[in-house]
Amino acid sequence: MAFITSPALAETGYVVLDDHPQSADPIEWPELDYIGWRSSGITRFAPLASYAGEIECNGFWNHTPPRTDKDGVWIGSQIAKAPVLVARAQEPGANVGRCRVIELQPNTYADAIYNLHQDDNNRLNEDGTGWVVRAWMNLTDDADSLLILRSDRFDPATEIRLPLHAGSRIIVDTQRFWHAVWHRGTAPRYSLIVSWTSGPELDAYLAENGANAHPASVDLPAALIAEGQAELHRRIEERRRAFEAHGIIMEPTPPLN
Ligand SMILES: [Fe+2]
Repeated sequence: MAFITSPALAETGYVVLDDHPQSADPIEWPELDYIGWRSSGITRFAPLASYAGEIECNGFWNHTPPRTDKDGVWIGSQIAKAPVLVARAQEPGANVGRCRVIELQPNTYADAIYNLHQDDNNRLNEDGTGWVVRAWMNLTDDADSLLILRSDRFDPATEIRLPLHAGSRIIVDTQRFWHAVWHRGTAPRYSLIVSWTSGPELDAYLAENGANAHPASVDLPAALIAEGQAELHRRIEERRRAFEAHGIIMEPTPPLN
């Protein structure tokens, strides 16, 4: 047995779709209820679908009974405010797990690479069923901001940088990639995030929307990357010492998801 995966993601592990023409869409996200939920950076989330239809963001595997990131329950009070966002999440017809709008405050490149993490969407997923992948649909126009992907957390040579202009759509196997966003704006960034189950429905959606497994990656100055790497290692060491001072031996991976 093996998980059902998307052939479109087999080669590189991510694809960029054609931009969603969202200029005519209503701006639904400011009206949603947001809750503090620390993820990669200073963030709040507005969940649209959660474990049991409550406004909360915890992984489905942290509830009782635990389950994998599938069969998210739509939150009535939220979806009433954001029918177009819900329609976008449901457009492929793939199973939806967690679905939420993320609000991310501006940060630095060093912040972003310190925040790099892998997701845990497939915890408790059953062999023979669809692999869970992640979609980001940028709602605000953050053309200078970048989704950063690394196959090796500490190796910038493995880094892919994808721009986050309004309507951009990126699908990633987020257990395969370390990922975080460098948001260069002055106002918060908003993005719709959906956990989708791989299968024929998702495959058709990817094909119909121009899935590109080799999008251009944005170049950055070597000095900026070197500074970011130095700061990444400085912060990890600082954190390790802080924990050590309390007698805790710390794993070098921040507990983010
Ligand atoms: Fe993530």
